[in-house]
Formats: sequence, C-alpha cells, structure tokens
Amino acid sequence: MSNERPNDRTYPPPADFAARAHVGSIAQYREMYEQAARQPAEFWGGLAERELVWFEKWDKVFDWQPPQVRWFAGATLNASHNCLDRHLTTARRNKVALIWEGEPGDSRMISYQELHRLVSRFANVLKGRGLKAGDRTIIYMPMIPELPIAVLACARIGVIHSVVFGGFSAEALKQRIQDLEAQVVITADGGWRRGKEVRLKPAVDDALKDCPTVEHVIVAKRTGSDTNMQPGRDHWWDHLDKEVGDVCPAEPMDAEAPLYVLYTSGTTGKPKGIVHSTGGYLLQATVTMKWVFDLRDEDTYWCTADVGWVTGHSYLVYGPLSAGATVVLYEGAPDYPAYDRFWRIIEKYRVSIFYTSPTAIRAFVKQGEQWPASHDLSSLRLLGSVGEPINPAAWDWYNRVIGHGVCPIIDTWWQTETGAIMISPMPGATPTKPGSGTLPLPGILADVVDLKGNPVEPNTEGYLIIRHPWPSMFRTLWGDPQRYEDNYFKKIPGVYMTGDAARRDEDGYFWVLGRVDDVMNVSGHRLSTMEVESALVRHPAVAEAAVVGKPHEISGQSVVCFVTLKKGDYDQDVLGQELRQWVAREIGAFARPEQIRFTEALPKTRSGKIMRRLLREIVTSNSVTGDVTTLEDLSVLTRLAEQHDDD
Ligand code: PRX
Repeated sequence: MSNERPNDRTYPPPADFAARAHVGSIAQYREMYEQAARQPAEFWGGLAERELVWFEKWDKVFDWQPPQVRWFAGATLNASHNCLDRHLTTARRNKVALIWEGEPGDSRMISYQELHRLVSRFANVLKGRGLKAGDRTIIYMPMIPELPIAVLACARIGVIHSVVFGGFSAEALKQRIQDLEAQVVITADGGWRRGKEVRLKPAVDDALKDCPTVEHVIVAKRTGSDTNMQPGRDHWWDHLDKEVGDVCPAEPMDAEAPLYVLYTSGTTGKPKGIVHSTGGYLLQATVTMKWVFDLRDEDTYWCTADVGWVTGHSYLVYGPLSAGATVVLYEGAPDYPAYDRFWRIIEKYRVSIFYTSPTAIRAFVKQGEQWPASHDLSSLRLLGSVGEPINPAAWDWYNRVIGHGVCPIIDTWWQTETGAIMISPMPGATPTKPGSGTLPLPGILADVVDLKGNPVEPNTEGYLIIRHPWPSMFRTLWGDPQRYEDNYFKKIPGVYMTGDAARRDEDGYFWVLGRVDDVMNVSGHRLSTMEVESALVRHPAVAEAAVVGKPHEISGQSVVCFVTLKKGDYDQDVLGQELRQWVAREIGAFARPEQIRFTEALPKTRSGKIMRRLLREIVTSNSVTGDVTTLEDLSVLTRLAEQHDDD
C-alpha cells in the first residue's frame, strides 16, 4: 500500500445526486444526527415503525444495562417476512429480487414472489428434518441462489444460522459446527472458482467425523460431480424439495431472538461467535440501505462480498431484500475468464450501485484501465468501499476510472460486531475526503479517545469507541458472555471498544488507521495472528510460531510467520512450502502465509511473551528501533533482521 498521507481534498455531493437523495444536505444529516443523539428512543422507535413490519409492537425501545442491551424486546417480527412477504402486496411482487450469475456464465433471475416460494419450500424442508425455532444450522455453500434461500428459510422458522465462508477448511468448519452444536449442515457438491470446481461436500464429510450433534446434511446440486452421500444422514436438496408444499407461515420471533451467529477472528486461537438479534439488526441493515446506498426502487444493486462474511449478510441478503432492492449475486472470481468480469457484469445488468473492497480496487488498478474502459459503465451512480482503509490513490482511481467523476464514493466503516454501517458518508449530504469514512451515521456516538475515555485532540491518534448502544450491535458471543464483556466493554467501562485506532481531523472527520490488537486484515478479511500460530504449532515439526501482518500492496496486509522447529533434519525450502499449505488446509486458502521464516528463537520479554511489536517492525521496515531493554536475547532480533536482508 502506498504511504501517501491523507489530504484535505473534499468532494461535495454532485448537485443532481443530492437533489434526488433520501438525505440531500449536510444540514439535514446534522439535524438527524442531533435528534438521534438527543432522543434515541424516539428516533429509533420512529424508524422501526416506518421501516419494518411487526406482528406485535414493543413497550420500550431499548434497555441498556451495560454491557447488555435489548432493543424492542417483547415485540415480534420475522426477518424473512420483512425481506419477502411484505413486498408481495406491493408492485414489487414481480420485481426481480435476485439476479444471479454463475461463474461459467449461467444466470438466473428470481422475483420476490418466486423467492418467497423457494424460501417457504426450503423452510418446510428444514421443518421436515425436525428443526424448530432456536435450533442451529451451519450453511457452507458457494455463492448460488440456494445460499440466500437457505439463510432466509432458517430465519423464517426461527432457526439460528451460521454461514461459514466456502473458502474455510474442513478444520475451521468443524470448529464452528462444534461450537454452535448445530443439528443440520446445508451445503453443495461444490462451486466454480477460476474455472475449476471447488468441492465442498468432502470438507463437510471430513469435518463431520467429529461432530456428533449433526443429524442431517442437505446438499444442493451445483457442479453435478460425483458426491459421496451417507445414507440416512445426507440428502439432496432437490429430492427433499419434492416432498414439501409452498406454504410456510413466518414464525413470529421476539425482536431479541438471535437471528444468526457469525464467527470472526479475535485475538485468541478460537474464533468468536458474534450473535446478532432479529429486530434491531434488521432495522439498521434496512435504514442504512437508504441512508448510505440511497437505494431507490429502480436501482440494480451489487455487493461483491461473499455471504460468508458479515458484509454479505447485511448488504447482500437482509438489508437490500428488506428494502426491496434488485440484488446481483455473482458466484465466481473477478478475473475469470478475464480481468473484465466485474465490468462485464455491470454492463450486462446495468448495475447502478456497486459495493466492493479496497483490495479488489487495488487489484483492478494493477490490471490496468483498459479492462473497465472496454465496457459501458454509465449505469453506475454510486460506488462503495468496505473492509479496510482505502488509500487515496485507490480512491482516486475508483472515482475517475469506474465512477467517471460523477459517482459519489461511500467509504463505509463497520465491523462484524456492529452489524451495520456505522461511519460513512451519506452520498447526497456529506462532502467526502479520499481515505476518510467521514462522519458517524445518526444514532452512532463514535469518538476517538485515550485509555481513560477522554476525547483526544483533533488530528491525534486514539482508540475508536462507540458510546451509546445501537440497534444492530451484537448481543453476546455465542457460549461466552464473559469474553463479550472482557473483550469489548472492560477497558473503558460501559463503552464499546472497536479495536481500531483512528483520528478525527479539524472537521470532525474520522480516519480509521487499523487494528490496535493482534488482528490482521488480509484482503478485508479479519484473521487473528493467534489463529495462524495455533495452526502452525499443530504441525509436528513446529516448536513455536509468531505471526504478524506485513503491509501488502494489494491485500492491505499479508501473513508472515516466524517459526522455530523441533529437533530434526529439515529441508527448509520444502518445509516452508509445506507449512504454507498446512495453514491453508487448517484455516482456509485466504489465510495462506506469504512467508515462513525459520529462526532459532523468538524474541520474548522476561515474562515469556512474544514481542510481536518487534517482529512487526522487522517485517515492516527491516530495522528495529524503540525500547528493547525487556528483551531476553537481543541477538535473536539481530539475527532475524539479518536473515531478512538475505531474503
Ligand atoms: O479494522 C476495521 C476494518 O475491518 C475491521 C472489521 O472487520 P470485519 O468484522 O471482518 O468486517 C469487515 C466488513 C464490515 C474493522 O475493525 N474496516 C472495515 N471497514 C473499514 C475498515 N477500516 C477502514 N475503513 C473502512 N471502511
């Protein structure tokens, strides 16, 4: 990534965009922000009335007993009902809900009415397997229509789903199934990626050797390749579908009932199961579609994230469908069969809102302007970015080459824990500055503080926190409420610590700088150093491992591992390759280390803690500065630095 400093260039919203936008001026934004800060219950209560369909209303909008919060408790609704049924009595009935494009070029358009039918049928399939409200499923699928259908079918009957990204390994899948004690796994034979079949069912079979809670596996047919099916346990989706009807009423769920669990990396080797609620979550996912994406009925909206990440949950499934959007869902790689696949899709479906990651944008920059230039991108009116800080050079390219200077860019900051976008421009209201997420959305009391909780001066680095609870905030960590409190609410009591460093400039704009904990951000995906270390030390040759993120031109960060070996005779080149492969197998291909560096010892403090800060300095700058007096063995560091020069 380039080291250029953020600058003060500002881009006001284009006048014609602002004139038609849901929020059309900075004054209107400020008025909303102030109202939400002054009267949060009235503000969110009013939105909940207008934006969602409820079976029963609430007595109290929210109840905050730090760190526990409840929003609209006692009220009932159903997320699938809000995403589907409510549109069936409107002109959206036969509007396309999903435009799906498979990697080989096959495609499918599914209207709201048809999606409702498919979801209801699959909900009946799940009921037929004995599932009921409060039970759990793991969804491990490629990006095919059956994925959102499975998600919405679970929501329809109150079954808590946990989507595991298809790029995760059998080992990672097993951990999640076990932690969730899931009864059913929904998967597919495989999917297509860069022209090759990525098989999924064999990974499920592997994982299930050690998952006694799983009673049934439902397998969608995508690639048609030979698939091992265990009689009694495994069922083809299309066979079960033949046995059910079209009618499945949506179960009224308490607003506080868990809608889903999504595992994300924390600072230990064990992923955290982020638990989201039904009512508050859906409300904020829905309203941000208007505030941030300025969604209108005539838009064709494309979010390139996989449903396996939180962005796919909130901005491919729940948010856009609840708001009645036409959503593009693409199965495969951005560079298959050629680098212009994304631009081809935008041209083909006349996409008007496009939401992707800085990593993708940097990869496009590298491939060259000729790829987008050969397509008509004039349907675009809004561009979004998510997952990591966007460097101003990538922002400028996105603006000029993709947006032709007429599309506002929304740099959206949020997290798996926050459930919905928290800091972002409102495209018709907020002047943007390349590299800044700009201002917090209404109801989001974000600040940059020191460890005592005091706001720091403008342009000074500090900790990004959120003071007041918001509807879509996670409610707990699955099976570990203590870790929820300790991780997020202890350092500054009652205040949510995001784990990010940030600063605010003299205009109050937020500039997110990155993580302050041992979490890496690789291609916009969160990965904990400890998770990779735990994977490495499971290898029989490895004694100890320390992992750090290294700045990377395309993916933001890459994974570098320092490894000490057990006694033995090793060919380091061969073992290095093997360990890279090992991590990919243990976690998933996206976690494959860029570098394995063998060393005789790791730098540690006197109390035995690995000094990652020093390792980070080595990989970042090749030099070691700062306080090293607590080092057990200074020579270790010198050796590591020298070794790096030899690379
Ligand atoms: O460090 C921030 C970074 O991604 C982290 C959240 O990762 P995850 O839970 O996987 O969710 C990613 C998609 C919402 C944050 O703590 N991050 C996310 N968006 C931005 C960002 N950093 C800077 N700018 C962003 N727009």
